[in-house]
This record gives sequence, structure tokens and C-alpha cells, in this order.
Amino acid sequence: MPSLKEKLLEMRDRRSALLATNFYNAETLRGVLEAASDLGQPIILQMTRSSIDYLGLPVALAMGRAGLRHHGVEGWIHLDHALGLDLVADCIDAGFDSVMIDASEQDLDRNIEATRRAVALARATGANVEAELGFVAKLGQEADPAGLTDPVQAARFVEATGVDALAVSIGTAHGFYKAEPRLDLERLEAIRRLTSVPLVLHGGSGVGEASIRAVVARGICKVNVATETKDAFVRGIKRELLASSGIDIRAIFPPAIRDVKELIAQKLRMLMTEGGH
Ligand code: 13P
Ligand code: ZN
Ligand code: NA
Repeated sequence: MPSLKEKLLEMRDRRSALLATNFYNAETLRGVLEAASDLGQPIILQMTRSSIDYLGLPVALAMGRAGLRHHGVEGWIHLDHALGLDLVADCIDAGFDSVMIDASEQDLDRNIEATRRAVALARATGANVEAELGFVAKLGQEADPAGLTDPVQAARFVEATGVDALAVSIGTAHGFYKAEPRLDLERLEAIRRLTSVPLVLHGGSGVGEASIRAVVARGICKVNVATETKDAFVRGIKRELLASSGIDIRAIFPPAIRDVKELIAQKLRMLMTEGGH
């Protein structure tokens, strides 16, 4: 299996993208993997600190790895949005394929410094390092048009840090939207022209198929989806719990797992290109 660094470069050269979705428990993981397996598509399984704290680091990693093997899926385990280097170091030591250091809310010099350190830590294992430049509103934050990624700064940032993949701010935000956002495709094209690393789209939930295709055609190689995955699972569970008073977990969860599977299958189909990944 190629490393995630190699795979993302292949995606870049083919103007194609990998889906990266967060998982939270055995059930969301299974829904994601069943979709990837049925469609024969690769996938990035990612988790934030909250999910790692919830599951336990070795458990979360082992679940992801065993799941990929069990379902026969080509995939990688990625740390999503680490705000500090301790977690980055722990995940690299534990054997993650990829880590994100997110110092995007610090000033440029600090973002560069934190990212350089993450890149240095990752040298030990060859893990892929993603960083973020610009402001992609996190859950509960207001979007800020002034926070869009500056293309010239992006080129300098990549050069100064040696980062492998760059998350950019082109109009998306984490969570659902009141109305589908208009993405700044010209800005994305300029970033693409001035940098060569694979680019990452955060805030993928609520972004429609036309926009996804437009950004992938312009250099996005990794599309992150989290909120929709969580939402599909929780809605499914609520529906099942209201419909029956049974306590058999193995009967209550599967319909919600199927909802996650259908959602992820739809996202994967959006990213499938002729000739497949
Ligand atoms: P959404 O929650 O909007 O899908 O964003 C996901 C994400 O960017 C994870 O890093
Ligand atoms: Zn994100
Ligand atoms: Na979103």
C-alpha cells in the first residue's frame, strides 16, 4: 500500500481527491468501511482529540486499523485538528499514518514554527503532515471572510515549513450551513498555481456536489466530512429508539449504521473519477 503522502501526490496528479471522514465509535466506523468496501474506494479515517479521548488512543488506532483490514479497504489513519504538538507526537509514536497540526488561529510565525516542529517529529516515521493556513470557522464560530487563505502567503508557508498537505480557507466552515456557501474558486486556483502540495478542504458537510467537483478540479486532494457522518448516525439512533422499546444493541444500531453507510457511499461516488481511484 502506498503511504498517504504518495497517495495524495497521486491524487494531485490525477486531479482527484480522497474522502476523509471522522469516526466516533465502532458503529460509525463500520458504516464508513462498509461503504468504502462496497465501492472499492480508498478512505482516510480521521479523529480529533475529542474522539481519541473518548475511545482511548491505542483503542482508536487499533479499531481503525483492524477495521480497514477486516473490510479489505485501502485506507490511512489521520489525526484531525491537533492544536498542540504533544498530541501530534503521541499519535506519530503510536503509528498514525498522518497528523494535522492546526495552529491556524495563531499568528503566522507561530503557525510556521508549530508546523515545522510537526514536520520534524514526523520524519521519524514518514507520517504525512497537514497544516492549515487561513481561518476555517470551527463549530460554533462565525465565518470570517477576512480569514481566507492568501495565495502568496500559502507559497511562503509551504516553503518555510516543508509541510506535506495544506488545508485552505476558501469559504467553507465546519458544521452545517444556513445556505450553501459560495466558494472562492479563483483563490483556490491561485493557491494551486503558487504551491505544489496537495490541498485539503475542511468543512465538507453541506457542500454540494457541484462545488466539490469544482474544487477537486482545482487542486483539492482531500475532502473532510465529519458533521454529516455524526448527524446521520444520531438521527438513525433516535429513530430506532423511538420505534421500539427493545434493548438489543445489535438490533438498534444496524439501521443507523446503514444510514452512515449510505451517506458515505454518496460522498465517495461524488469523488469517483473515470478509471476509479
Ligand atoms: P464538517 O464537520 O463541516 O464536515 O467538516 C469536517 C472537517 O473539516 C474535519 O476536519
Ligand atoms: Zn476540519
Ligand atoms: Na461544513
